[in-house]
Amino acid sequence: MPSQTDAISMLKADHEKVRGLLSQLENSSERSSQKREALLHKIAAELEIHTTIEEEIFYPAYRDAVKKKEDRKLYQEALEEHHVVDLVMPEIEETDPGTEVFSAKAKVLKEVIEHHADEEEKEMFSRARKVFEKDELRELAERMEARKAELQGMKADEGSSEEDEEDEDLDEEDMEDEDEDEDEQ
Ligand SMILES: [Fe+2]
Ligand SMILES: [Fe+2]
Repeated sequence: MPSQTDAISMLKADHEKVRGLLSQLENSSERSSQKREALLHKIAAELEIHTTIEEEIFYPAYRDAVKKKEDRKLYQEALEEHHVVDLVMPEIEETDPGTEVFSAKAKVLKEVIEHHADEEEKEMFSRARKVFEKDELRELAERMEARKAELQGMKADEGSSEEDEEDEDLDEEDMEDEDEDEDEQ
Protein backbone atom coordinates (compact mmCIF):
# COMPACT_ATOMS: atom_id res chain seq x y z
CA MET A 1 0.00 0.00 0.00
CA PRO A 2 1.44 3.40 -0.90
CA SER A 3 2.37 5.64 2.00
CA GLN A 4 -0.29 8.16 3.04
CA THR A 5 2.30 10.74 3.97
CA ASP A 6 5.00 12.35 1.87
CA ALA A 7 8.68 12.49 2.67
CA ILE A 8 8.70 16.18 3.55
CA SER A 9 5.76 16.00 5.96
CA MET A 10 7.35 12.99 7.56
CA LEU A 11 10.68 14.75 8.16
CA LYS A 12 8.90 17.89 9.40
CA ALA A 13 6.95 15.83 11.92
CA ASP A 14 10.26 14.48 13.24
CA HIS A 15 11.55 18.07 13.52
CA GLU A 16 8.51 19.09 15.57
CA LYS A 17 9.04 16.19 17.94
CA VAL A 18 12.72 17.03 18.45
CA ARG A 19 11.99 20.75 18.85
CA GLY A 20 9.56 19.87 21.64
CA LEU A 21 12.10 17.64 23.39
CA LEU A 22 14.81 20.31 23.09
CA SER A 23 12.53 22.91 24.68
CA GLN A 24 11.78 20.55 27.54
CA LEU A 25 15.51 20.02 27.98
CA GLU A 26 16.21 23.75 27.96
CA ASN A 27 13.48 24.39 30.54
CA SER A 28 14.57 21.56 32.83
CA SER A 29 16.45 22.51 35.96
CA GLU A 30 19.88 21.50 37.19
CA ARG A 31 18.16 19.70 40.06
CA SER A 32 16.35 17.26 37.80
CA SER A 33 19.35 15.35 36.51
CA GLN A 34 17.45 12.15 35.79
CA LYS A 35 14.87 13.96 33.72
CA ARG A 36 17.65 15.68 31.80
CA GLU A 37 19.42 12.41 31.16
CA ALA A 38 16.21 10.78 29.94
CA LEU A 39 15.43 13.71 27.65
CA LEU A 40 18.92 13.80 26.23
CA HIS A 41 18.81 10.07 25.61
CA LYS A 42 15.52 10.46 23.76
CA ILE A 43 16.81 13.38 21.68
CA ALA A 44 19.96 11.46 20.72
CA ALA A 45 17.90 8.42 19.68
CA GLU A 46 15.44 10.49 17.65
CA LEU A 47 18.24 12.38 15.92
CA GLU A 48 20.19 9.29 15.08
CA ILE A 49 17.24 7.75 13.27
CA HIS A 50 16.18 11.01 11.63
CA THR A 51 19.63 11.91 10.32
CA THR A 52 20.20 8.34 9.11
CA ILE A 53 17.07 8.28 6.96
CA GLU A 54 17.93 11.73 5.65
CA GLU A 55 21.50 10.78 4.80
CA GLU A 56 20.65 7.38 3.35
CA ILE A 57 17.45 8.18 1.49
CA PHE A 58 16.22 11.78 1.33
CA TYR A 59 19.46 13.72 0.83
CA PRO A 60 20.84 11.56 -2.02
CA ALA A 61 17.46 11.67 -3.80
CA TYR A 62 17.44 15.46 -3.40
CA ARG A 63 21.04 15.77 -4.61
CA ASP A 64 20.26 13.71 -7.72
CA ALA A 65 17.03 15.57 -8.46
CA VAL A 66 18.30 19.14 -8.33
CA LYS A 67 20.19 20.66 -11.22
CA LYS A 68 21.41 23.99 -9.89
CA LYS A 69 24.70 24.27 -8.12
CA GLU A 70 23.23 26.36 -5.30
CA ASP A 71 20.63 23.65 -4.64
CA ARG A 72 23.32 20.98 -4.50
CA LYS A 73 25.22 23.19 -2.07
CA LEU A 74 22.34 22.82 0.41
CA TYR A 75 22.94 19.08 0.40
CA GLN A 76 26.60 19.47 1.31
CA GLU A 77 25.86 22.06 3.98
CA ALA A 78 23.21 19.85 5.57
CA LEU A 79 25.71 17.00 5.84
CA GLU A 80 28.20 19.33 7.54
CA GLU A 81 25.55 20.45 10.02
CA HIS A 82 24.79 16.84 10.91
CA HIS A 83 28.50 16.45 11.49
CA VAL A 84 28.51 19.39 13.94
CA VAL A 85 25.67 17.78 15.91
CA ASP A 86 27.65 14.51 15.95
CA LEU A 87 30.53 16.40 17.56
CA VAL A 88 28.44 18.25 20.15
CA MET A 89 26.28 15.31 21.22
CA PRO A 90 28.94 13.08 22.83
CA GLU A 91 30.29 16.11 24.71
CA ILE A 92 26.99 16.93 26.33
CA GLU A 93 26.39 13.24 27.05
CA GLU A 94 29.59 13.26 29.08
CA THR A 95 28.65 16.42 31.00
CA ASP A 96 27.10 16.24 34.47
CA PRO A 97 23.43 17.21 33.99
CA GLY A 98 23.39 18.89 37.40
CA THR A 99 25.72 21.67 36.25
CA GLU A 100 25.50 25.05 34.55
CA VAL A 101 27.87 23.73 31.91
CA PHE A 102 25.23 21.19 30.92
CA SER A 103 22.59 23.94 30.75
CA ALA A 104 24.83 25.96 28.45
CA LYS A 105 25.62 22.98 26.23
CA ALA A 106 21.92 22.05 26.05
CA LYS A 107 21.10 25.58 24.90
CA VAL A 108 23.78 25.50 22.20
CA LEU A 109 22.66 22.05 21.07
CA LYS A 110 19.11 23.38 20.75
CA GLU A 111 20.29 26.37 18.72
CA VAL A 112 22.41 24.26 16.37
CA ILE A 113 19.63 21.75 15.73
CA GLU A 114 16.91 24.39 15.34
CA HIS A 115 19.04 26.33 12.90
CA HIS A 116 19.57 23.17 10.84
CA ALA A 117 15.91 22.11 10.92
CA ASP A 118 14.72 25.63 10.03
CA GLU A 119 17.14 25.81 7.14
CA GLU A 120 16.07 22.40 5.84
CA GLU A 121 12.44 23.40 5.95
CA LYS A 122 12.88 26.84 4.43
CA GLU A 123 15.44 25.96 1.78
CA MET A 124 15.99 22.28 0.99
CA PHE A 125 12.44 21.06 1.55
CA SER A 126 10.86 23.91 -0.35
CA ARG A 127 13.21 23.21 -3.26
CA ALA A 128 12.37 19.51 -2.99
CA ARG A 129 8.63 20.28 -3.20
CA LYS A 130 9.34 21.83 -6.60
CA VAL A 131 11.64 19.20 -8.06
CA PHE A 132 9.85 16.03 -6.91
CA GLU A 133 6.49 14.79 -8.14
CA LYS A 134 3.91 13.98 -5.47
CA ASP A 135 4.27 10.26 -6.20
CA GLU A 136 8.01 10.46 -5.77
CA LEU A 137 7.61 12.10 -2.35
CA ARG A 138 5.23 9.35 -1.28
CA GLU A 139 7.56 6.67 -2.57
CA LEU A 140 10.47 8.25 -0.66
CA ALA A 141 8.30 8.33 2.48
CA GLU A 142 7.58 4.65 2.06
CA ARG A 143 11.28 3.80 1.90
CA MET A 144 12.01 6.10 4.84
CA GLU A 145 9.25 4.59 6.96
CA ALA A 146 10.56 1.09 6.31
CA ARG A 147 14.11 2.10 7.20
CA LYS A 148 12.89 3.98 10.28
CA ALA A 149 11.02 0.92 11.56
CA GLU A 150 14.15 -1.15 11.04
CA LEU A 151 16.33 1.36 12.94
CA GLN A 152 13.80 1.63 15.76
CA GLY A 153 13.90 -2.15 16.08
CA MET A 154 17.69 -2.04 16.28
CA LYS A 155 17.50 0.73 18.90
CA ALA A 156 15.08 -1.30 21.00
CA ASP A 157 17.52 -4.24 20.97
CA GLU A 158 20.42 -1.93 21.86
CA GLY A 159 18.32 -0.39 24.62
CA SER A 160 17.79 -3.68 26.38
CA SER A 161 21.50 -4.54 26.36
CA GLU A 162 22.39 -0.95 27.38
CA GLU A 163 20.19 -1.26 30.43
CA ASP A 164 22.12 -4.34 31.49
CA GLU A 165 25.37 -2.43 31.09
CA GLU A 166 24.03 0.51 33.06
CA ASP A 167 23.09 -1.79 35.89
CA GLU A 168 26.63 -3.10 36.00
CA ASP A 169 28.03 0.44 35.96
CA LEU A 170 25.78 1.43 38.82
CA ASP A 171 26.98 -1.46 40.94
CA GLU A 172 30.57 -0.40 40.41
CA GLU A 173 29.79 3.24 41.18
CA ASP A 174 27.93 2.26 44.31
CA MET A 175 31.04 0.62 45.64
CA GLU A 176 33.38 3.44 44.66
CA ASP A 177 31.14 6.24 45.93
CA GLU A 178 30.21 4.75 49.26
CA ASP A 179 31.76 7.65 51.18
CA GLU A 180 29.98 10.26 49.05
CA ASP A 181 26.64 8.51 49.52
CA GLU A 182 27.07 8.65 53.26
CA ASP A 183 27.71 12.40 53.10
CA GLU A 184 24.50 12.93 51.17
CA GLN A 185 22.32 11.00 53.60
FE1 LIG B 1 19.05 17.12 8.66
FE1 LIG C 1 15.90 17.07 9.23
